[in-house]
Amino acid sequence: MHDGSGRIVVQNLTKQFGPVTAVQNLSFTVEPGSVTGFLGPNGAGKTTTLRMLLGLVSPTAGFATINGSPFGRLGQPGRVVGAVLEAQGFHPKRTARNHLKVYASAVGVPDQRADQVLQLVGLGSAGDRKVGGYSLGMKQRLALATALLGDPQVLVLDEPANGLDPEGIAWLRTFLQSYARSGRTVLISSHLLAEVEQTVDQVVIISRGQTMYYGPLDHLRQSQQSRVIVQPSDVGALVTALRAEGVQAIEQLPDGRLAVAGVTSKYIADAALKAGVSVYGMQEEQIDLERLFFQLTSGQYAAPGYPGTGYYVQQQPPQQGGWA
Ligand SMILES: Nc1ncnc2c1ncn2[C@@H]1O[C@H](COP(=O)(O)OP(=O)(O)O)[C@@H](O)[C@H]1O
Ligand SMILES: [Mg+2]
Repeated sequence: MHDGSGRIVVQNLTKQFGPVTAVQNLSFTVEPGSVTGFLGPNGAGKTTTLRMLLGLVSPTAGFATINGSPFGRLGQPGRVVGAVLEAQGFHPKRTARNHLKVYASAVGVPDQRADQVLQLVGLGSAGDRKVGGYSLGMKQRLALATALLGDPQVLVLDEPANGLDPEGIAWLRTFLQSYARSGRTVLISSHLLAEVEQTVDQVVIISRGQTMYYGPLDHLRQSQQSRVIVQPSDVGALVTALRAEGVQAIEQLPDGRLAVAGVTSKYIADAALKAGVSVYGMQEEQIDLERLFFQLTSGQYAAPGYPGTGYYVQQQPPQQGGWA
């Protein structure tokens, strides 16, 4: 029997396809009540991990459980887990409503549930149209509607934002957040951080089948030092003045301005004033989470010691063939 917690546990999960290590020793937990983003570039191993979680691929090592059980041992899986994986096939000549009715009987819920989920995903007025004429975004909504048929406690979506326009992404965000707030578990994958940044509370970032960061997105943001960009009248004089005060993290940008990390704007302004240098402009640079994501997943990143709840995992040397 499962424990009813809604928790997803992935423990030391590994999948080898011949010479390709698609997933390597991956561990993370997804708690109910939050939206967790499963992030990594194409080929990182996201779909393979989700397929193992859903019992579609058997792991080479490790295990994945939902409610404390492997997927295959969940009593009524359609009532516990709703999932949308890549390359969802729809019969093009079938209407959305008919598609949903077929699945409703498979999951063991009444036909009326098809109408309810069509309303839930905003396809109420398009339910009698043939799916062949649907846009990619509408197909994504229909796939989500299919996953919602059993009113599942756990929702697992592989790249749900693919093909959605900004309005669709905003709608999906509101939907998933309210689903999670009602105490359910939501795990969504994406190869683009920006697509899900506003939606997720937690992230699991993987690269080449390995965890690079696992924890709250806020902690990842806060771990990044912000920089002050300053345009002085005399670059050399300001650099000398700052160095004299022990400031080391100074970089000259291609446009001639200076990027200074580790001190406040006020500190720089005071140092400039003391050195008789005018400041024509100064701005605090926002943390570029996208750049951090790229660094974390491009294999270039040497992880610093990190004190927060989330943690960085030191990058291993690339494995042969582990990168699509
Ligand atoms: N059935 C398979 N046979 C062989 N290699 C596979 C198979 N499925 C996935 N892979 C490989 O595993 C790696 C991870 O793929 P995938 O899990 O689809 O990544 P993602 O979903 O993050 O883009 C890639 O190198 C991919 O080519
Ligand atoms: Mg994938």
